[in-house]
Amino acid sequence: MKVCVVGSGGREHALVEKLSESAEVLITPGSPGIPGMVPTPAEEIEADLYVIGPEAPLVDGLADRLRAKGKLVFGPGADGARLEGSKAWMKEVVEAAGVPTADHGTFEDLNDALEYLAGMVPPFVIKTDGLAAGKGVLVTDSLTEARNAVGDYLSGHAFGDAGRKVVIEEGMTGPELSVLAVCDGNKGVLLAPAQDFKRVGENDEGPNTGGMGAYSPVPFVTDELLDEVRTRFIEPTLAELRRRGIDYRGVLYAGLMLTDSGLKLIEYNVRFGDPECQVVMPRLESDLVQLLVEAASGDIRSPVSFSDDACVTVICAAEGYPGTPRNGDVIEGIDRAETLEGVKVYCAGVSSDDEGRMTTAGGRVLNVTATGSTIDEARARAYEAVAMISWPGMFVRGDIAANATTKSH
Ligand code: AMP
Ligand code: GLY
Repeated sequence: MKVCVVGSGGREHALVEKLSESAEVLITPGSPGIPGMVPTPAEEIEADLYVIGPEAPLVDGLADRLRAKGKLVFGPGADGARLEGSKAWMKEVVEAAGVPTADHGTFEDLNDALEYLAGMVPPFVIKTDGLAAGKGVLVTDSLTEARNAVGDYLSGHAFGDAGRKVVIEEGMTGPELSVLAVCDGNKGVLLAPAQDFKRVGENDEGPNTGGMGAYSPVPFVTDELLDEVRTRFIEPTLAELRRRGIDYRGVLYAGLMLTDSGLKLIEYNVRFGDPECQVVMPRLESDLVQLLVEAASGDIRSPVSFSDDACVTVICAAEGYPGTPRNGDVIEGIDRAETLEGVKVYCAGVSSDDEGRMTTAGGRVLNVTATGSTIDEARARAYEAVAMISWPGMFVRGDIAANATTKSH
């Protein structure tokens, strides 16, 4: 069995690692830090299964183009990927499906948006309708900041066309969790829950990033809560998609908040979470190739099981992130770090120099990941490994998975 993974980040590295347990795996465009890198576009590669990592090629219809050639693909077509490509459409679908989510309005006109804001209580939540690399969401208590953001978004100044339509939402509070469901068009199998850390600074301060770390399992998530995720979120959403003629085969990732009035949907993503995937894959005991082949074929039959181990990932970022990162620095210490028990380093943003040394090439550079019998043990191992890795300007958050039992962000 030959599997072609599309992408080049830490999520894809974790997928390649897991898939390689039972298949030959290629990755395009890949990176020098990930085994199996081939420069050829996916559409020119012959494989038995294609697994598309990032949202952009999914929204762009890569899965449709591969399926049109008769290929077996794990990842939704452009129709289903709109769940992530248009937040306004996502809201329309989930409301039709009866899924609990924040009250909202969708606007293209500045005056209408400002009038809606004036009637709200803080915190104000402003989102670009379109894709903005995880950075298009503003949560603020300041009406002035919210008004300014709406102006910047709608004019196209802040996020280009992605912001010319905005979704303004009721602000919710409570702990968050990410639940990823592997879907075959009719049903979804839930993977182990995870929690990620979106803000760049410790104590959840500073701007949002693509994610600075994650852990799994999440102590407050009971089996009853997971049943609720399946029956009140994933299943009605898949049914509503089917009603609209959409055969959704891929990951449906629910970003959820446990509010005082119950579990509510923050957002759907149409792919594995990054960095959630990096802490879920090491815990997966079942054969991932088999699971994704079954999902891509439209009929998941095999059970999915996870180890009782905990897993923590800490993102080593480059100076400047989430703004423009400093790049091209030589990365030291990965091999040594990986000699520690339970430690694996996934490459998220790396390149190599003329001498074949690994260099920084992105904001989030490495995902230092460790398993352990408890979250604390996994966390201690991950930070011990982080201490062995260096390049000029590297930084991490020191509080990933700290207070995991009570964490609310
Ligand atoms: P998203 O990209 O939609 O996941 O949003 C990024 C982060 O913004 C989420 O993880 C939440 O922390 C926060 N957020 C998004 N929507 C809301 C909301 N309606 N109320 C409170 N926080 C939110
Ligand atoms: N971890 C957040 C995301 O993948 O969008």
